[in-house]
Amino acid sequence: MDRFFLTTAIYYINDKPHLGSVSETIAADFIARYQRKLGREVLFSTGTDEHSQKVERTALAAGQPVEQYTAAAAASWKALFDRLAISYSRFIRTTDADHIKVVQEMFQKLYDQGDIYKGSYDGWYCLKDEAFLLESDLVEGKCPHCGLEVQHVSEVNYFFRLSKYQDALLAWYEQHPDFVQPPMRSNELVNVMRGGLRDISVSRSTVKWGVPVPFDTDQTVYVWFDALINYATVAGYGTDRFATDWPADLHLIGKDITRFHGIIWPAMLMALNIPLPRHVFAHGFWNFEGEKMSKSLGNVVDPAALIENLSRLIGIDEPMAVDALRYYLCREGTYGLDVDFSSQRLLLRFNTDLANDLGNLLNRTLNMYAKFRPQIEGQPFEPKASLAELFATTLASVSTDYSNLQFSAGLEKTWMLVNVLNKMIEDDKPWALAKSGDAAGLATHLATLLTGLWYVANLVEPCMPTVSDRLLGAIRRPQAAWSDLAWRGPGSDLPEESSTVLFPRIQPDQLEDFLAAQTARKTGGTTAAPSAVAEASGLITIDDVSKVQLRVATILEAERVPETDKLIKLRVKVGSEERTIVAGIGKHYDPGVLVGKQIVIVANLQPRKLKGITSQGMLLAASVGDEMALLAPMAVLPDGAEVH
Ligand code: MSP
Repeated sequence: MDRFFLTTAIYYINDKPHLGSVSETIAADFIARYQRKLGREVLFSTGTDEHSQKVERTALAAGQPVEQYTAAAAASWKALFDRLAISYSRFIRTTDADHIKVVQEMFQKLYDQGDIYKGSYDGWYCLKDEAFLLESDLVEGKCPHCGLEVQHVSEVNYFFRLSKYQDALLAWYEQHPDFVQPPMRSNELVNVMRGGLRDISVSRSTVKWGVPVPFDTDQTVYVWFDALINYATVAGYGTDRFATDWPADLHLIGKDITRFHGIIWPAMLMALNIPLPRHVFAHGFWNFEGEKMSKSLGNVVDPAALIENLSRLIGIDEPMAVDALRYYLCREGTYGLDVDFSSQRLLLRFNTDLANDLGNLLNRTLNMYAKFRPQIEGQPFEPKASLAELFATTLASVSTDYSNLQFSAGLEKTWMLVNVLNKMIEDDKPWALAKSGDAAGLATHLATLLTGLWYVANLVEPCMPTVSDRLLGAIRRPQAAWSDLAWRGPGSDLPEESSTVLFPRIQPDQLEDFLAAQTARKTGGTTAAPSAVAEASGLITIDDVSKVQLRVATILEAERVPETDKLIKLRVKVGSEERTIVAGIGKHYDPGVLVGKQIVIVANLQPRKLKGITSQGMLLAASVGDEMALLAPMAVLPDGAEVH
């Protein structure tokens, strides 16, 4: 069977899991589940990075032996991942005996062959990032990555000959342009390598809590050198299994640790004569109000508290709350780029996508099937042939998105199917079919809904495993491999319940309670602003509407803005005033036809410059696909007239 080996970064054990850290493991779980659906045997690892000076210090501060401290912390990370339905095959701890053995074997081998040598380090060290830094790396004397104070370190230790692999690495990047993705991350690394690589320190003489250097008991292995090797441990380095389980197909990591994975790790593997991983994907960060989540800023979102709040205040069981969180994390933003966390957006997604679109579709389908079942007895029960192609092409295109880690795009397409089915109910009017006695039409309609839901349930499985199981449980169809999804009737797999509430629609008071609970965690007790509640429901108030001043304007002059085919500069009259507006309508209108026409403009928009021209307002237009039309009053009015 085809194999797929996927890893996440391993988490610093002294940090509490936050939404950003678990988002990586959730994304990896999405990939693992999708690969299994493709029929591959998946090896999927995640775990904890447990050595280092800062862990030693944290345990000391907690008054615990370091082994006891790390065991308890690792257990809580693991328990959280279990709660989040992470289907890892190995939760690796860098304190695991097999890992320590692999680290020592590799260190020894590199030393024996001259790729590790003894030297002395005199420079800076950032404890938070566990990074050796040059004087020239520092920004105002602080760590360039986290902005914290750095320590001066002067010690004898061992160095890895990273510089020796510079040319081989650059050649590798040239031959494998998609080795590191997205491309901007690859370009950054190539620039670093072209700037020249220096040998790096790979041991510490002042840190006791680490893997002992096998031939020098005064030294422990540098925590990053130790941590990167976890991937080889998982694949069974030193055992027969390594030949089949290595190389990794994908290392999923954050954008902050690309140098370690895109330069140091491949160089270590080259030195050890081990094949390189096939891909490294560096995702963006989950921020909070535009800032990186961090303990020091006090803006970290606690995933466990979030699930508890969702479950308790919205009235859903915990596995469903987990799925709602997973859906939000995978659906929001473009994977690879930074995203801002918002409790309101989470609730909006919950109410619209999950409760309204998907939950309703299931419930309506079950209701109608239970109601009309007697009428369709004996009728052929096959889905509409006219939708077969749409479902097949969407399946293929979702597959491409999932393979490219474009989770949001794939889910959006899946929701397009959900909405096609919802719209089909409105268009077909099954209750009317029943009334007119069209039993065959009714049977086709119901078979289409059940088959469509079967597809949808399978397509959402990588993202929401519990929702998928419950959807399938309700329609009584099995999980299917991707290749087994076919546009055929449900056969003898038929629903028995007449209704089920997958996700309840969140009521305004529940919204308020949830947002208040989320806000209270960060600010120490304030409640959610009413506007936040309204925003989460997707509705705006009359006050919001009245902020926008819309007015009728008459176009006096129109000309194209040079060097662009999109922009037209308009001179418009709004009551006694004349204004210039730059509008992106050049592909749809010739300036000549616009003069003398009346349009509607937003009159109280802050001026902004477009191609050096100050635009004093915005006009209203409607568009769909490539078509666009300006909005105009149905009768000629004095310009300046208010639009209510
Ligand atoms: N222990 C090292 C990794 C060693 S891998 C051989 C480490 N640990 S970490 O706990 O700081 O980060 C683990 C992963 O979480 C990294 O990939 C990191 O980018 C990711 N994230 C940490 N904060 C994040 C966000 N706010 N958003 C998304 N991912 C983030 O680095």
